[in-house]
Amino acid sequence: MTWRERPTATCEARSGLRAIQNSLQCNNRGLVCGRTVKEGQVMPLMKGTAHQLESITIRDEAPGDQPAIHEVHALAFSGPAEAKLVDEVRQSGDLVISLVAAEGDLILGHILLSKLEAPMRALALAPVAVHPDFQRQGIGSAMIRKGLENAGHDGWEAVFVLGDVCYYSRFGFSVQAAKGYFSPYSGEHFMMLQLGPRKILTSGRLVYPAPFRSSGLS
Ligand SMILES: CC(C)(COP(=O)(O)OP(=O)(O)OC[C@H]1O[C@@H](n2cnc3c(N)ncnc32)[C@H](O)[C@@H]1OP(=O)(O)O)[C@@H](O)C(=O)NCCC(=O)NCCS
Repeated sequence: MTWRERPTATCEARSGLRAIQNSLQCNNRGLVCGRTVKEGQVMPLMKGTAHQLESITIRDEAPGDQPAIHEVHALAFSGPAEAKLVDEVRQSGDLVISLVAAEGDLILGHILLSKLEAPMRALALAPVAVHPDFQRQGIGSAMIRKGLENAGHDGWEAVFVLGDVCYYSRFGFSVQAAKGYFSPYSGEHFMMLQLGPRKILTSGRLVYPAPFRSSGLS
């Protein structure tokens, strides 16, 4: 199922469900939650989860990381398409920011930001993947926050993403802000985040790097 085909549920409803799931997960692991998690309340990341975020470094991709990055995407997406896309964007020279979450030599997650042709200096955030054994521990969020911070420091003015609105809105991405832009991914799961104070054009055409266009992913 693609993001476009997913049934839309309100973030509040989903966060209620997640809180219950978190609570169950917590109890299953025999961990002490510290407080009762009520429906509608999102439990913060706790110490004592399977992996400790403090031991994880978010850093630029380094030579030699590529096979592990490929594997993380293939596992997270249960197939090779996104892994192949990352390899191709790297080869095409459109890769701008490529971050891994690493614990020692182990690559647990990866995000890619690549160059868009757009009415402003803009990047596409895609794909984002965390190894299935390490999801829901804040690793994806930490990589995205660092990626956005780096992009802002480097003078990029906007980042576009296609994905789960409940997830990406927590970083400031907005469907409304993306509405004026035309891209193959435009629609109710397409979002934009402006970086920096400069006034930017609120409409225009976005052209993704060639590997996205030939990947058939949506
Ligand atoms: C989406 C993804 C990158 C998030 O990374 P993560 O480290 O698991 O996420 P975080 O711990 O930072 O954030 C947790 C949130 O992610 C979402 N999430 C994470 N894993 C999820 C899963 N398996 N099912 C549903 N939602 C999930 C939840 O909304 C959760 O919200 P909550 O904190 O309110 O419970 C990761 O789950 C993943 O790799 N998924 C498979 C690939 C994918 O779908 N990528 C995104 C599309 S490009």
